[in-house]
Amino acid sequence: MESFPFKEFRKRFPILSEKIQLSSCSQSALSIDVQQAIQEYMTSWQEHGMDWGGWMEAVEEARQHFATLIHADVEEIAVVSSVSHAASSIATSLNFTDERGDIVLTDMDFPCIGHVWLSQRDRGANIKFISSENHEIPLGSYESSIDERTLLTSISHVAYYNGFEQDLKSIADIAHRNGSYLFVDAYQSAGNVSINVKESGVDFLAAGLQKYLLGIPGLAFLYIKREVADRISPRLTGWFGQSNPFAFDIKNVEYAGGARRFDSGTPPMINGFAAKAALKLILEAGMEKIEPYLKELSQYTIDYAEEKGLTILSPTNVVHKGSNTAIYVPNASEVEQTLKEKGIIVSARQDVIRIAPHFYNTKDDIKTAVDALQKILVGT
Ligand SMILES: Cc1ncc(COP(=O)(O)O)c(C=O)c1O
Repeated sequence: MESFPFKEFRKRFPILSEKIQLSSCSQSALSIDVQQAIQEYMTSWQEHGMDWGGWMEAVEEARQHFATLIHADVEEIAVVSSVSHAASSIATSLNFTDERGDIVLTDMDFPCIGHVWLSQRDRGANIKFISSENHEIPLGSYESSIDERTLLTSISHVAYYNGFEQDLKSIADIAHRNGSYLFVDAYQSAGNVSINVKESGVDFLAAGLQKYLLGIPGLAFLYIKREVADRISPRLTGWFGQSNPFAFDIKNVEYAGGARRFDSGTPPMINGFAAKAALKLILEAGMEKIEPYLKELSQYTIDYAEEKGLTILSPTNVVHKGSNTAIYVPNASEVEQTLKEKGIIVSARQDVIRIAPHFYNTKDDIKTAVDALQKILVGT
């Protein structure tokens, strides 16, 4: 395909020679790079018996790559196990007062984010949900919901359900004007939409590796703006959050500087190996090329699905959406399974089938998937 800039990269994902994988909003395709990195861990364990230094180096390399990806300093990144863990770390470290105890979030956030904030009600948190309108959140809803009582505003950069993409800087400005922190769940944006934490000014940002970051579950990163990290103390902690974990000082707590104080126990080493290779691949391909290419695929998906008479529940202006295009399918889980049997991997959520390409996908992949979906829906 002429306008396909990632031809060489595609060869690094063996599954694509046999199947069509368009499920990056849930699990992206396995690359040779990640496979080899996981094997590297196994080989080192097998050959050396134990190699703490080498294993920690892999985790540190992954931390550095993530910092580069989102334009942060490495000291602003904590290693956590999941986005739920990242949000819980922040939620438990905050103090909710009568004057400033409100948490503003939206009904388009991933449910775990709601669960985390709701769990803080018995510590004084007052939870306020912004309701979506036609599967989007108008900026005006933030203006009217965030005020001087808001301690923190929690949003998804890109929505898991339909790929709705929000402008981080505008929301950060509204939050900060009111003295509120901004927490961003970037699990559905990292790897398909560019993130610049310095330009947008967000305070906290979390993302895992399994979706558009080409890795596996079990490891996630939490960005905390330097000046914010030094102001808050973790309550969900462990020895790796200490300034010197190897002091083995059980009687004192001395947190590390920056976001590292939010590290907890021994990091998941094997996930660190997978993460360093996965993130290297993303950085090599370059977000400046990946993002416009995926916007082009998004436009193609919307146009072709509309031509086939399918109902799209994503924003139809690609400026306001990530890679994921949600197509209305009442029995989505069943249809996901039927497509899987035909070698087409997409992801169902509630009443939609999500077509979520990555840079290794082509328009032909999307055409084949949309054709197959349309055939199932008309029952032929
Ligand atoms: C936007 C978003 N946030 C969070 C999660 C869950 O993250 P974790 O399982 O790492 O807590 C998901 C998973 O689908 C997601 O899409």
